[in-house]
Amino acid sequence: MRILGIESSCDDTAAAVLQDGVVRSTVVASQDDVHRRFGGVVPELASRSHMRSIVPIIEAALDQAGLTLDDIDAVAATHGPGLVGSLLVGLSAAKGIAFARRLPFAGVNHLEGHLLSPRLDADTPFPYVALLVSGGHTSLYLAEGFGQYRVLGQTRDDAAGEAFDKVAKTLGLSYPGGRIIDNLARRGDPRAVAFPRARLKPQRDGTLFDFSFSGLKTSVWQHVRDNPVAGDTAAADIAASFQEAVVDMLLDTAFAAATAVACGRLVIAGGVSANSRLRARAQEECAARSMQLHIPSMRYCTDNAAMIALAASHRLMRGECDPFSINASADLEL
Ligand code: KG4
Ligand code: ZN
Repeated sequence: MRILGIESSCDDTAAAVLQDGVVRSTVVASQDDVHRRFGGVVPELASRSHMRSIVPIIEAALDQAGLTLDDIDAVAATHGPGLVGSLLVGLSAAKGIAFARRLPFAGVNHLEGHLLSPRLDADTPFPYVALLVSGGHTSLYLAEGFGQYRVLGQTRDDAAGEAFDKVAKTLGLSYPGGRIIDNLARRGDPRAVAFPRARLKPQRDGTLFDFSFSGLKTSVWQHVRDNPVAGDTAAADIAASFQEAVVDMLLDTAFAAATAVACGRLVIAGGVSANSRLRARAQEECAARSMQLHIPSMRYCTDNAAMIALAASHRLMRGECDPFSINASADLEL
């Protein structure tokens, strides 16, 4: 089965072709240049950019796979969560193609795409605890099978990627800030500034492990206000110290949740899983705990359409599809 996947939930326009679980092509048009001077995603500009890119990106994905629409058996698109105006562009394109070609159509939850993304690179057996860290989300799930996900925790305020982006802004760095902080932190001392780590008491009889990043973000802001950043070394030290605090909080909480559900396999996915320090520390600490670790390759960490086609594939291959009445949903839950 050849599935055309389409993703447009935030500021990346993406299309991919998946054939029997294997990626034949994956194309992403980033809008970073559009939003950079505003220091964050401007929803109206995002929708307009998606409108300009969607058809060329779908054509590029088909071209790269050496296929035409005649070869496609089903179409899948993200229908939430995300920016409604952005979601509508990819979703409408997918419905249009499916309707015109009389193909099955599936709407996909973006978070399910991230959660399954390591499977694009390698076998990732269920069950696993998934730490989903992106610009819009920071959550923990227990994934027990396709479509069987239990929430084990989530952020009560900022997402981890959002904290990276806001701290980058505080340091006068560009947008999106995650990768820039990651690079800057390589030259810094992670013990230079003792930023606080929020550790929330598990809720719901010890089975819900929440995160909080707003205190850390404010603490960086206060530190910079009281100690104006003088030179590259000071900025690198702050970046490294902030990043270390985020990694500590993410991993401590993920391991606490994995212990609570007695699960020995950890998946880390979403844009922040591209972070080099998080990847290195997760590898070391999983090895020390004899836990299996799966992190997608770089191109599947950030938003892409291959993960959307993959998330749809298990339903489409069973003959299930969605009606065209399915709509964009900004706060769709998993
Ligand atoms: O998953 P994603 O592409 O989009 C959302 O669904 O949000 O994640 C984007 C987020 C941004 O906040 C970006 O700064 C962050 O992922 N990010 C990183 C790195 N690369 C991207 N954060 C830390 N280190 C990185 N290397
Ligand atoms: Zn995402």
